Amino acid sequence: MQGVYRSAKVCKHQSLAGASLKSPYREVRMASEPDSSWVTITTMEKRRIALIPGDGIGPEIMSSTVAILEAAGFTPQWEYLEAGQPAIDKGRPAMPKETLDAVREIGIALKGPTTTPIGKGHTSANVALRKALDLFANVRPTRSLPGLKGFFSDINIDLIIVRENTEDLYAGIEFQPHPDMAQAIKVITRPGSHRLCRYAFEMVKKQGRKRITAVHKANIMKLTDGMFLEEFYSIAEEYPEIEASDIIVDNCCMQLVTHPDKFDVLVTENLYGDIVSDLCAGLVGGLGFAAGANIGERCAVFEAVHGSAPDIAGKGIANPTALLFSALMMLRHIGEGEIADRIGGSVLKMFSEGEVLMRDMGGSATTLDYQAEVIRRVSA
Ligand code: NAI
Repeated sequence: MQGVYRSAKVCKHQSLAGASLKSPYREVRMASEPDSSWVTITTMEKRRIALIPGDGIGPEIMSSTVAILEAAGFTPQWEYLEAGQPAIDKGRPAMPKETLDAVREIGIALKGPTTTPIGKGHTSANVALRKALDLFANVRPTRSLPGLKGFFSDINIDLIIVRENTEDLYAGIEFQPHPDMAQAIKVITRPGSHRLCRYAFEMVKKQGRKRITAVHKANIMKLTDGMFLEEFYSIAEEYPEIEASDIIVDNCCMQLVTHPDKFDVLVTENLYGDIVSDLCAGLVGGLGFAAGANIGERCAVFEAVHGSAPDIAGKGIANPTALLFSALMMLRHIGEGEIADRIGGSVLKMFSEGEVLMRDMGGSATTLDYQAEVIRRVSA
């Protein structure tokens, strides 16, 4: 069996090193005795994790993340799946049906970013994934990190955004009734708002947090945001120990950049959540550090908040922290909290000691420098 694991590692690292990734994960190959030809052995006992590197910086940061997870002792059967540009290059949809079916079957995925053209071209692979698998809650923590210099480095920020992930203007209902007029429909449903708010209150309770704030624009969108707010307060009645309040989204943005430490958990609709979470990433060092999880009733997909960063793709300078921290959320979700704590602790110590500063931390370390240093620490 040892040979199987050793061979699996070789296959993975070879395939993840470049942008054109192949899928060595369904089967693990090892050299047979005595002639060293290759035979195939299926490792049924290993946990399967769907792995979607995506495009842009995705393959680079995914390769580092997988190398770090494996060095810390997490060696599942990775199932490589295509999405984004690699699929489009083969004339397929950005989110191929086989990828959706495999994630649905496996139940857990780690995903890199995928590019969506602006104003034209294919629709978003991410929106397709979230809707098809009904990944209704997008959980995005924002925490101050040691050693990072920024406007708020002297304030302890520790908040979580819970964003609705399948409705709102992201329902993709757009039409153009006249050459000079385009319309989009904002869809908010009572069941959709209800289950998101329920999830958020349960999360607050489980994590022992104290406060939850609904972010909305119900003063203007009285029916849609009004319905969201109604559901929020009807569920709040069942959790009297949690302090529930609401805030209008524009005021929320102002308060976040003046008093970010006064928020605990924010629950909101899809579009506000998308914008507010990038704002929050900026409070604690930028998009390179912002992790996320897309949670459904049957599946969960873990991915960074950031996109494919075409401006730095292929340069070897992308910060893998956001994807790595998303992978740590995945580990905790599947009961591997000990490994997650060990990796997270190593990264935080590395930051606080000012080792391996990447470009977005004011240094010049590369993705591979970061990978090597975290691996050195988790292996020590
Ligand atoms: P972006 O998040 O890709 O990049 C914004 C800025 O942050 C860029 O300057 C980039 O270099 C920097 N950045 C992002 N991640 C970084 C990292 N890990 N390390 C260092 N710097 C990093 O946003 P942008 O440029 O608006 O979008 C690019 C593409 O990504 C678009 O096609 C967009 O639709 C897509 N996108 C995909 C997402 C996903 O797959 N979940 C999420 C957000 C955007």
